[in-house]
Formats: sequence, structure tokens, C-alpha cells
Amino acid sequence: MALINENYLKLQAGYLFPEIGRRVREFAEANPDKKIIRMGIGDVTQPLVPAVIKAFHEGVEELASAATFKGYGPEQGYDFLRDAIALNDYQMRGTDITADDIFVSDGSKCDTGNIQEIFGAGNKIAICDPVYPVYADTTVMSGKTGKIQSNGYFEGIIYMPCNEANGFIPELPAERPDLIFLCYPNNPTGTVASKKELTKWVNYARANKCIILYDAAYEAYITDDSIPHSIFEIEGAKEVALEFRSFSKTAGFTGTRCAFTVIPKELKAFDNQGNAHQVKALWNRRHTTKFNGVSYPVQKAAAAIYTPEGKKQVKAVVDYYLENARIMCESLKACGFTVFGGVNAPYVWVKTPNGLKSWEFFDQLLIEANVVGTPGSGFGPSGEGYFRFSAFADRDNVLEAMERIKNL
Ligand code: MLT
Repeated sequence: MALINENYLKLQAGYLFPEIGRRVREFAEANPDKKIIRMGIGDVTQPLVPAVIKAFHEGVEELASAATFKGYGPEQGYDFLRDAIALNDYQMRGTDITADDIFVSDGSKCDTGNIQEIFGAGNKIAICDPVYPVYADTTVMSGKTGKIQSNGYFEGIIYMPCNEANGFIPELPAERPDLIFLCYPNNPTGTVASKKELTKWVNYARANKCIILYDAAYEAYITDDSIPHSIFEIEGAKEVALEFRSFSKTAGFTGTRCAFTVIPKELKAFDNQGNAHQVKALWNRRHTTKFNGVSYPVQKAAAAIYTPEGKKQVKAVVDYYLENARIMCESLKACGFTVFGGVNAPYVWVKTPNGLKSWEFFDQLLIEANVVGTPGSGFGPSGEGYFRFSAFADRDNVLEAMERIKNL
């Protein structure tokens, strides 16, 4: 008799975004004449930039000739991409991350979930509430929790509420965790963490032998020079943190798929005898066993964002989405919404009007304005009463959506 992983039965509903997709599909089928504007899932709408497309084509052409054909590549990624990442994303910002600390992958969603596997089931995990649902769901799947409780929290997870009172920045947890997920710029609230704030977490992790799993998928949206783009800009972080980065939102790779995880050799975790082991070595073992690398043309395309023209073109697209976010913040404020985020981040986080529950507002917006957003409660219990708009829409749609909301 085949037995299932019963941890899956603890999960309450389907994953958030397919659930939104299902509701929107049902509405669209029942209302084929309505033009629906999608600002729910953070999926990009602008095309890959010319420098990326050119490199992509070149990569494909190389595969067409026996002299330049490539089969399996290095599982950790080609040197040309890892070198470009290390130089541009780290060394040029003053952090001494090297290419061999970098593991290229097909997405940060996969990496933030898969990382659970190299840490024992006995680890206590701390997550912010609200937060990107993958952290909690994969913690449950990996058997590190009990059942869900009536307050919406899983037994065994340390939740760190983020609300208006603390500016959506969590307090240090009262109970000591082993692993801490942090995400800045934050999904969903759009808040950023200052150097002082991140230093506090790094110091806490050092003092308490914790590891910070730092998700920096939205770092490209930081416009304020004082905000760190990487946890490794904080002194001592290499001993207590690993970092997830993605080309999805930086360069429009949500469909193309390319990301990377940085694990410095200094980062250690322990066996039950108290012996220290390099986390990087475990991840390398996992990666080389279960993953055969990102395709060559995709890595060529990703490396093109570090060329002078690639940098310029990618920045223009990021600026376009940031301008969307600015327009959305202004319009929503003018409509009377209480608005957060949207400045160093592509997400705008609002309080639902008239005390509506998040899903009630989702339905109202879909039915009356034909606009799709993401209910805050989908990111955790403290997200109840909030709603997230993604700024990754096309400009005309942003303007039209704001007009429709104004006329609600
Ligand atoms: C989101 O909307 O939160 C993101 O698109 C999800 C993701 O990047 O997987």
C-alpha cells in the first residue's frame, strides 16, 4: 500500500494564486463581455529587453551547430553567469561574494521551498505574518509543523506579526527559532528593511545560532540608496544567512525561468552531535543530485542583463513598474484608501475599505470593477483586512483600473 506524505493533508486550501485564478476564470466565463484587469499575481507584462532577446537568440544559434552545441551544463550554472552575478550584484556593492557561492536555478519559488529539505525536521521556523505563502506551506510539507489552529497558525511555526503598529517590520521573536525567513523588499506589504534593521537580525542570528533565509527577489526595486540590496551588505551575515535572488521581477523572467541562491562557505549548520557542516556542501549535493541546470540560452539571456546596454534597458522596465506603483499609490490615496508600500517595491498594500474582509473586497472589486488583486489574508492571518495590488500591469490597464476603482 502506497502511503502519502500526510503533511500535505494539513494544508488548508489550494495554493493562493491558483485559487485566485480559479475564481477569476469562473467570473470571466460567466461574464464574457467584461474586460478584466489583472493586478493579482506579481507576473510581469513587459517584454524581455532587446539585449536579453539578442543573447537568447545567440544562445539558441549556438545549439544549432555541432561546434558550439551544449548538452548538460554545470548544475550550479555556467561560469559566465555566476561571474557576472558575483561581480555586478555583490562585489560592485562592496560584498565579497564569489562565483562559487552562487547556485543558478529555475526560480526562487523552487529554491525557497526546496531549501527546507537540507534542514532537519526538528528545526523551528520563524516567518513573518503576512508573507509569501511558499515559506509556510513548504514548512508544513516538510513535516516541521503540527496542524493548523483556529487562529490560522500552524503549530510549530513561530509567526512574527507585521502590522500597521510595527510598520510591517517584525519584532524579534519571543521564542528562539532555528531558521528565519525574511523577505525584503517585502512581498506582500512592500516595506523595506534598513541597514540598522537587518543588522539587528544578523546580530540576533549570530547570538542564537539561527540561519536567516533571506529572500531578496525584489531588490531591483530599491531606489533609496541607504537600503541594503543584500543581507551580505551587513557585517557578519555570511556566517548566518543565505540569500535568494531572481531574474523574474528584475528582468521579466517569470516565464523564462532563472534565479540563483547564494550560500557562502562560512555558513554552517549542525548535526545532532553538534558538529558543524557547510550548508553550501549540502545544497550542492542536493542541487547536483536533483537538478541538471538551467538551459544554456536562458543563462546567456540572463547574463545579458549585466552588459551596459542590458543594465540600462532593464532599469527602464523596473522604472516603468515603479511609476505604475507611484500612480497606484496616489490614486488609491485620493480615493481614501490607507496605502503602504509601492515606493521601493512593486507591491501596493492597502487597508480594505469599510472594514471588509480581504476576500469580500476581492469579490467586490472583481464583480463591480472587474479588477483583480490579491486578498491580504492569503498571505497569513495578519493580512486579513488588507489587499495587495501588483504594479506589474501594463500602464493603460493601471490607469483604467484606478479610474474604475475611483468610480466604485
Ligand atoms: C506573487 O504574486 O506574490 C509572486 O508572483 C509569486 C511568485 O513570485 O511566485
